[in-house]
Amino acid sequence: MKVVISLGGIFFSDAEKLKKIAVVFDELAQSYNLCVVTGGGERAREYIKLARELGANEALCDYLGIALTRINAKLLIAALKNAYPEPFLDYKETALAKANDTGKIAVMGGVSPGYTTDAVAAILAEYVNADLLLNVTSVDGIYDADPRKYPGAKKYDRLSPKELVALTMKEELKAGSRIVIDPVAAKIIERSGIKTIVINGSNPQNIVDAVHGKHQGTEIV
Ligand code: UTP
Repeated sequence: MKVVISLGGIFFSDAEKLKKIAVVFDELAQSYNLCVVTGGGERAREYIKLARELGANEALCDYLGIALTRINAKLLIAALKNAYPEPFLDYKETALAKANDTGKIAVMGGVSPGYTTDAVAAILAEYVNADLLLNVTSVDGIYDADPRKYPGAKKYDRLSPKELVALTMKEELKAGSRIVIDPVAAKIIERSGIKTIVINGSNPQNIVDAVHGKHQGTEIV
């Protein structure tokens, strides 16, 4: 079974947290063909903010974000026992490396401006014909509003790809914007029909459970 995981940038602020997630990934890689795409988190947002203040356009800000996601990819590789030694830079390289699966985890960051690593993970999942796309974030799933800002927000247990697209199309796609799933990712999920689960990775056991079909997040089917 092939699994592509999008790991939110929030998990790169604490070595202990990242170590625990790496242990889970190494374990999963013994039974599953695993690729992980790393987000940029607050560091990416910090650089994007500085660049904007200096007059950078959105594409340049996106490139800064991509650089930070790749730095986080290196951090994850440092924590893993069984990964390819460098982050992959594009989909083809990753797919080729995983074609004759060696059991090694392929890690990659961002690829090109205009979207986030959620979309990278969705495109990669489509390209390698993954069985599951797992979006690991710091909230319990997809809500009708940002639960960090609106405590009354309602969580969806299941969404159709069409509903996901409708929800995400309201979001802004500026560099560094804070969205659970970006609209490009939603469209890719819709066209590929890939099974997608959004879960909270604060407890890394949730990642193992979700791969085994048990979760309390949001399932897009
Ligand atoms: P992230 O993938 O980290 O954004 O990319 P995110 O999903 O909103 O944040 P977290 O990390 O899960 O909280 C950071 C920024 O890098 C640029 C975008 O500007 C994005 O907002 N980026 C990333 C790209 O332009 N292209 C990519 O392929 C990846």
